[in-house]
Amino acid sequence: MISSINQQEANKLPSSLPRHVAIIMDGNGRWATNRGKLRIFGHQVGVKSVRRAVSFAVSHHFAALTLYAFSSENWKRPSQEVSGLMELFVHALDSEVKNLHKHNVRLCIIGDIGRFGVRLQERIRHSEKLTRNNDGLTLNIAANYGGRWDIIQGVRKLATQVQKGILSPDQINEDALYQYICMNELDPVDLVIRTGGEHRISNFLLWQIAYAELFFTDVLWPDFNDTVFKSALNAFAQRERRFGGIYT
Ligand code: FPP
Repeated sequence: MISSINQQEANKLPSSLPRHVAIIMDGNGRWATNRGKLRIFGHQVGVKSVRRAVSFAVSHHFAALTLYAFSSENWKRPSQEVSGLMELFVHALDSEVKNLHKHNVRLCIIGDIGRFGVRLQERIRHSEKLTRNNDGLTLNIAANYGGRWDIIQGVRKLATQVQKGILSPDQINEDALYQYICMNELDPVDLVIRTGGEHRISNFLLWQIAYAELFFTDVLWPDFNDTVFKSALNAFAQRERRFGGIYT
């Protein structure tokens, strides 16, 4: 029995399976380098792991899967790798969107897409429009996304409301800001998985993972498969989620 917990969170408690899983897909570069290949090869093979993870999420009836594809810091990578990744995104959207639509998946891109090339922005808009009425899995791809950016863009919208006199500063609370944070319409993130052996969040979702469980694995993203996904779910099922409350 859980006491003293936020009622909104409690209503969304999973029985044992998470409803919303977020993944930091790390290790593509090392996977390729270990094989004497260029890093972009690791990203290409990583797309296959994306496909497997989405298919797993659909068959386990998750409400949402959120994947960290390109952080706001990833622009610092060599330009050849960045342009290779952009090509890969365009190609992946072209080749996968019909299949996603067929499986009733709603695709959403979270992040500041204005910095992407026109071609990629067009593909994003087209894919989101095509799938927007689907009510199966919501697949969020975080692209040019940063958790700090997300909070700042929300704060900026609140500040505009204050400037216009629609909101007073003392009306600013968690609920007010939450309305402007990415994915506010979805179930909260229950589980964050990070592959590739690092134990950090790297400016991925910050607000949204306040009460998420964290699962880290050394497996590099191109090797991520259903067995690893299941071990993350098993670990999740054994966690005691208290949301700041206590067990009695
Ligand atoms: C991290 O590995 C991976 C990325 C920054 C890019 C992730 C992109 C994909 C899996 C391909 C396409 C995705 C979609 C959604 C179509 P890393 O390069 O940081 O690896 P390292 O830590 O070994 O260097």
